[in-house]
Amino acid sequence: MSAPLRLDFTSDNVTGASPEVLAALAAANAGTVASYGADPLSEVLMRRAAELFERPVAILPVATGTAANALALSVLARPFEAIYCHPAAHVMTDECGAPEFYTGGAKLIGLPSVDGRLTPGQLAEAVGFARGMGVHHVRPAAVTVSQASEWGTVYGLAPLRALCSAAHELGLRVHMDGARFANAVARLGCSPADATWRAGVDVLSFGASKNGALAAEAVVAFDPSLAAELGLRRKRAGHLWSKMRFLSAQLVAYLDGGLWLRNARHANDMARRLADGITALPGVTLAHAVEANEIFVAVPPTLIGALRAAGYGFYEWPPPAGVAAPVARFVTAFDTTAADVDGLLAAAGLGHR
Ligand SMILES: Cc1ncc(COP(=O)(O)O)c(C=O)c1O
Repeated sequence: MSAPLRLDFTSDNVTGASPEVLAALAAANAGTVASYGADPLSEVLMRRAAELFERPVAILPVATGTAANALALSVLARPFEAIYCHPAAHVMTDECGAPEFYTGGAKLIGLPSVDGRLTPGQLAEAVGFARGMGVHHVRPAAVTVSQASEWGTVYGLAPLRALCSAAHELGLRVHMDGARFANAVARLGCSPADATWRAGVDVLSFGASKNGALAAEAVVAFDPSLAAELGLRRKRAGHLWSKMRFLSAQLVAYLDGGLWLRNARHANDMARRLADGITALPGVTLAHAVEANEIFVAVPPTLIGALRAAGYGFYEWPPPAGVAAPVARFVTAFDTTAADVDGLLAAAGLGHR
């Protein structure tokens, strides 16, 4: 009997975990091991991370992306400092003030752009303004970029390098929210090192939960001297797992044999299939370029109704400037099948009858 078609395209968080990750958890369950990260699997993870990024790194597993982002930013900005981000960034809109809380009050400042990506020019302008205000304004300290962005776009390597080098010249450090880092690397076809520290990223939130893990993310600092402070902050924040082997087991399995990239490539391929199919329907246009596993399309209201009537789950999103039609967001994942996508396309097609 074939599996029922997936109806829920709201997020890549609605997925289960990859069988490889579940098997690794079961294997890690045996026996007693040292707690709080002193176990053999956590040591394997340290080595794997250094291999993956082609240099020594500090890697600190945590269970949520919000924890990874807020901890990462807490070592980059002090309470009277500024962190620049896109206004739609997860850190700005979806973390209930965790970055402000963990930094002790640093201010997030949104820099709008049409495609979810920041540019060196707007960063320079914002920093220039801040410095002109002297003691009255928060001091520029960091910029955070989402890769892939909240609008499904991906920074190319050259624009990323340009943004990071502008940030460093301005005296800022760079954080990357990589909740969908795998999807971005799959899109770019480059090494994880090229996609991060070689481009100028200082600290990465390495996501895994959306792409095959059960609940595992990690803060990766490319300056290992940040490890001690991050370790203290993680403990103080209540995010140091006593049974760390279970976080490490997920991340090791996620990296083993390239599962993370295989999963992400598949999710991106499914997004392409969905985007190509849905934009072939009359009146449907892309609201943002599809470069990872999120699809934003401006659609006729009848299509929204047809999909809802067929039981499909997806979000309606604020349309970008100049778009009058409703915008629907669909997210594909590592376990989305071609049949799932075709089922959605067939239901969408009924919206035009
Ligand atoms: C861009 C981005 N960053 C971070 C996260 C992590 O969020 P959570 O704290 O729910 O794991 C998400 C999840 O939706 C996300 O989309």
